[in-house]
Amino acid sequence: MKLLITGGAGFIGANFVRHILETYPDYKLINYDKLTYAGNLENLAGLEDNRNYTFVRGDIADRKQVGEVMSAGVDVVLNFAAESHVDRSLEEAAVFIGTNVLGTQVLLEAALKHKVDRFIQISTDEVYGSLGPSGSFTEKTPLSPNSPYAATKAAADLMVRAYFESFSVQAIITRCSNNYGPYQFPEKLIPLFITNALENIPLPVYGDGLYIRDWIHVIDHCRALDLALHRGKPGEIYNIGGGSERTNLEITKLILKHLKKSESLITHVKDRPGHDRRYAIDCSKIKEELGFETSMTLEKGLKQTMDWYIQNRPWWEKVRSGEYREYYHRHYADREKTFER
Ligand code: NAD
Ligand code: DAU
Repeated sequence: MKLLITGGAGFIGANFVRHILETYPDYKLINYDKLTYAGNLENLAGLEDNRNYTFVRGDIADRKQVGEVMSAGVDVVLNFAAESHVDRSLEEAAVFIGTNVLGTQVLLEAALKHKVDRFIQISTDEVYGSLGPSGSFTEKTPLSPNSPYAATKAAADLMVRAYFESFSVQAIITRCSNNYGPYQFPEKLIPLFITNALENIPLPVYGDGLYIRDWIHVIDHCRALDLALHRGKPGEIYNIGGGSERTNLEITKLILKHLKKSESLITHVKDRPGHDRRYAIDCSKIKEELGFETSMTLEKGLKQTMDWYIQNRPWWEKVRSGEYREYYHRHYADREKTFER
């Protein structure tokens, strides 16, 4: 099977690339990534000479280049590429429309033209909006996005649906809750707080810190995507969640306790506008229909993640200093021609 993975240099995409290459040694994989600030090829260090792996630098909104990559023959597209950070979407929404909406449509159009067998859209539970103290999102919950990021992901989901209904593009949408784990860019809550704590920098908790997220380890998200890829039914939506609801303050205290740091590092700061109060995922459909089960408790996964950030300090120090951008130039730029198509 030949997979086109977009956004494979990001957090979840890179974990998925590693998962596929380790699990299916005969699969061929193209990683198509623009390398925005969030793309870091060091996340895939060691794969440069893997014969089943090809990196192509490109934008999913670039019709010509996307067409060229797909014309090489691709069985499945998995679209991870996105602008993914809510706070950035509150500052500058336009780039989110360009990548998340237009980019998805460009991929769908090319998938249709080149008769790709399957298209997996990696979406998010944020398209459903916010929950009160009880209940959980099912696949039938109406879309009600509250941030520009979530609005663009919802728009992309509707475009995927339209290409399935109108043109029979064999598409599946997955909607996962908050991921954590190795290689997550330290602008998101968990890696930001781990790295700040390790450096004794205050941890900025938005508002009262009682906002709830349903956390899942990135490896479990990858395992669920593997099931959607191999057993999912086109036209369907699958929610994915970790079943681990925690307030942000609970997560913060777990991190400080494990790292043996003082709670005096907690600093309450101005709240995020339109901040969703609670997410909780009902993922009974993927459990019942595709046999998904998580493999890790939050406590175990968080401890493993903190240990990873302790052991991989150079990785996040290079991200913080900006040096990570040099990895591409050092390891890929002179070979770029070989990596084209
Ligand atoms: P990320 O920000 O870490 O990585 C995004 C990747 O996409 C980067 O490598 C970036 O260079 C690439 N990219 C951005 N714009 C591009 C473009 N125009 N063309 C090609 N590549 C481009 O994101 P992530 O956290 O790994 O999330 C991956 C996907 O999963 C996203 O679609 C996101 O909406 C979704 N998702 C994320 C979470 C989460 O908790 N992080 C949860 C559910 C769903
Ligand atoms: O639910 C899935 C979504 O999870 C994904 O679609 C997004 O791509 C991903 O970024 C994530 O969105 P969140 O906004 O939930 O994640 P973030 O890590 O930015 O914030 C998690 C919670 O922590 C949220 O309630 C805001 C809060 N927070 C975040 C940061 C960065 C803080 O209190 N302080 C912070 O500094």
